[in-house]
Amino acid sequence: MSEKADGKEDLISLVTIRKGQPKDIPLIKQCLIDSWVEHAKQEPGLLDEERMKASDVEGYYRECFDEPDKHFLFVAEADGKFAGFIRADIKEIPPFFKHPKILYLDDTYVLPEFRRKGIARSLLQRAEELAKEKGIKRLQARVYSFNVEIQKLLESMGYHTPHATWDKAIE
Ligand SMILES: CC(C)(COP(=O)(O)OP(=O)(O)OC[C@H]1O[C@@H](n2cnc3c(N)ncnc32)[C@H](O)[C@@H]1OP(=O)(O)O)[C@@H](O)C(=O)NCCC(=O)NCCS
Repeated sequence: MSEKADGKEDLISLVTIRKGQPKDIPLIKQCLIDSWVEHAKQEPGLLDEERMKASDVEGYYRECFDEPDKHFLFVAEADGKFAGFIRADIKEIPPFFKHPKILYLDDTYVLPEFRRKGIARSLLQRAEELAKEKGIKRLQARVYSFNVEIQKLLESMGYHTPHATWDKAIE
């Protein structure tokens, strides 16, 4: 339960996490566009909003149905309504790392009206369960430096930043 600015309480009685389905893709694309607008605003030297919007989101997400042992999509529903999603992919990092088979998390998103109710945490917990089911001992995610919300969430779940991407554009 949470209180909105208008004083009314927003009640969600049930949050469920299910596997994503092809019918979710159009909504996922809308959510991603919302997230990309913010990312492109914060990192204009690296990200271009129009370029991101023109990318093949449908094709990228179809991988979750074409190769369901490697690419995963979970959707959160709040009282039966689409509330957010997480994508996870099994990847290999160089073999000198301990546990080089990783579950790589991408595109964690919760619709604004459902935020701060623990939904992203539940999606991340589901991804952790998946990693355990697959015998994977490491999870990683690309997180932008400006994105304090997700950083706080990941920190609270025991993640840390062992290294970072350093970026410079040249002519
Ligand atoms: C980041 C995001 C996924 C969080 O989703 P959420 O469902 O609101 O997160 P939760 O309710 O599970 O939050 C759990 C914890 O994360 C941290 N957190 C989440 N949002 C926060 C915010 N706006 N400010 C500070 N901390 C925040 C808090 O520690 C919170 O615990 P608390 O509510 O008990 O204080 C959501 O804000 C979002 O979709 N943002 C846009 C897309 C995006 O940037 N995704 C990440 C890409 S890597």
